[in-house]
Amino acid sequence: MDKSKKYIVTSALPYANGALHLGHLAGAYLPADIYVRYLRGMGCDVAFICGSDEHGAAITMKAKKDGISPQEIIDKYHTLNKATFEKLGISFDFYHRTSAELHHKTSQEFFLKLIEKGGELDEKTSEQYFDEEYQQFLADRFIVGECPKCANPEAYGDQCERCGSTLSPTELINPKSVLSGSTPVLKETSHWYFRLDKHGEWLREWIENGTIDGQPHHDPNAWKNHVVGQCLSWLNDGEGLQPRSITRDLDWGIPVPMPGAEGKVLYVWFDAPIGYISSTKQWAAENGKNWEDYWKGGPEKLQLVHFIGKDNIVFHCIVFPSMLKAHGEYALPVNVPANQFLNFEGRKFSKSKGWGIEQHEYLEEFANFPNKEDALRWALIRNLPENRDADFKWDEFVDFYDKDLADKLGNFINRVVTLTNSYFEGISPASSTASIPANVVELVNSLTNDIEQFNLKSAASSLVEIATWGNQYLQDTAPWAIRKTDPDSPVIAECINTSLQLVNLLAVLCEPFIPFTSLKIRQLLNLPKVENEELEATIAKLKNGEALLPEGHKVGQPEILFAKINDRNDKSRLEIIERQKAKLAAILAAEAAAPQPSNNSTIQQSFQPLKDEIQYDEFAKMDIRTATITAAERIPKADKLLKLSVDLGFEQRTVVSGIAEHFTPEEVIGQRVLLLANLAPRKLRGVDSQGMILMAENAEGKLSFVQADEAFGPGLGVK
Ligand code: MF3
Ligand code: ZN
Repeated sequence: MDKSKKYIVTSALPYANGALHLGHLAGAYLPADIYVRYLRGMGCDVAFICGSDEHGAAITMKAKKDGISPQEIIDKYHTLNKATFEKLGISFDFYHRTSAELHHKTSQEFFLKLIEKGGELDEKTSEQYFDEEYQQFLADRFIVGECPKCANPEAYGDQCERCGSTLSPTELINPKSVLSGSTPVLKETSHWYFRLDKHGEWLREWIENGTIDGQPHHDPNAWKNHVVGQCLSWLNDGEGLQPRSITRDLDWGIPVPMPGAEGKVLYVWFDAPIGYISSTKQWAAENGKNWEDYWKGGPEKLQLVHFIGKDNIVFHCIVFPSMLKAHGEYALPVNVPANQFLNFEGRKFSKSKGWGIEQHEYLEEFANFPNKEDALRWALIRNLPENRDADFKWDEFVDFYDKDLADKLGNFINRVVTLTNSYFEGISPASSTASIPANVVELVNSLTNDIEQFNLKSAASSLVEIATWGNQYLQDTAPWAIRKTDPDSPVIAECINTSLQLVNLLAVLCEPFIPFTSLKIRQLLNLPKVENEELEATIAKLKNGEALLPEGHKVGQPEILFAKINDRNDKSRLEIIERQKAKLAAILAAEAAAPQPSNNSTIQQSFQPLKDEIQYDEFAKMDIRTATITAAERIPKADKLLKLSVDLGFEQRTVVSGIAEHFTPEEVIGQRVLLLANLAPRKLRGVDSQGMILMAENAEGKLSFVQADEAFGPGLGVK
């Protein structure tokens, strides 16, 4: 963190064609908000930028399905998403939308700049599917057909959602137009291609070494392993980077600003990231700032950080940086702290199956739950998918709330305010010996270091530890006991004064994580909300041994900050949780009652016969370990094989695995697995494979990873 620089922090622009669920919040929005609130607290000049992504075929498709115009769709979800973020305390400085005129203009200028530069965009003619009934070319998503890899009859023109393969529309067997249902014909059309193939070399240097032409740009070790791993697996892909078409034949989007390009628009992934720039422009215009201060200049002047989910890594670490570099005037990101995915009670979020909860639904269904915003923020923070996929569970929501917020944080603050009121009429007593001890200062140090390194989960544990220390300190000092024997002992004043300082410290430190609670603590202390720069000032006082709350300050009346969910006398909060669990149980029960008949019978018939009996010592020879895949890449000319880096906790292994037809490299990075670790190494396609990953296989030959519980790190034995 460097106060002399401008910070521009972005969160992925969500598509305005649906509501956002808790996984989105945990992925790209909450972590960014914590980081930005921290920066503001440290007195940095930061712009926190987001907005709605309102173009793309997904939006026109949804509009068709719902029988309304794309404009109605985007208006509805832009409004909903923007308002919901605000209610959850996600403190964007600006939430723009890509349908805005300023954005259209900015994107067109960007495109024209690349044309003007020469050599960055090529116009090429190719044959693409055309729906004769609708008289229009079909975007990839508007073509369905049979997947050539797994025979899924409903694969899309760009991707098969069953096997995860990336496809092009002409690979589909028996393609059909989604619009008319008819078989499309191939017809010539011309498009502009961004010459991504020219950017491979500097990208590799930039990602691997953090330098550009040998000049330092960022600290490459500060990037998350899974982010670098995914980038390298792209750069190492046998075919190299390819030119990417950045225009489409569509009537929804930003018109291509070229003569003869009627009916063509910019591809959504070309214009959306430019939305970060146009959103900054609009914010600057409305707030008397100069947008160029935040976008133009090297890392010595400004720091660009993109918060995203792992599905967006390639666009933010390879494609958009190449666009920025090609344009020539803009800064490149100094970090892209992407998160992995959050699952929900053991499964992927699924809107169609009703599995999961959307942000706005949460707010509605928890309307009567006290401090619901921070309750949610906290449950997600404690379980962020920072380096591997995580799982949201209602039981853990309860635990995090009851144990951390109620028992530790809330309890400490309540005790301190109560004691101050009963012993000193609510006034912080004078004490020449009161002070915050060194180990708490240490915890504050690790908290801030962790935030700067995007280890937000760990930063949050330091916060809890400070509250835990406070409780222990009260317990050990026991001013109530001293009072009985020696009511004038200075230890009582020292204890209350120190504790009150700690309470104020907690109010300041918790602001980035649970801002609603921070405000409440400050109200209890009879202080205004935590200001920008106050974190910096507080840390400075801590280091100088100055008081964090002046003696003689009068605090307010105690109030329960967090009423426990598991409370024998008041079941109201538990009932809200129980209702959520009941909804899920009902979904599971309905699934069990209506099994997929076809699946069931094939599986029943095709269990493999058991193998011959073995003795225990034969089994005991196998050393099976928990492990995590940290990097993955295709092996050129070997369709079935992926080369994996596997973290065993105490060492890294290279493993060649025959799963490439089932999983993409991007999908498996971060996957927890079981590894047969003492299998003799074998050379496969020239690569030494050191072990074997265990997989389950179903009747259709589909594979599934086998793994231990999430709390079980890598390197543990399996028996
Ligand atoms: N709308 C995209 C998604 O939800 C993210 C766009 S990020 C941006 O996956 F950089 F393009 F804005
Ligand atoms: Zn498929």
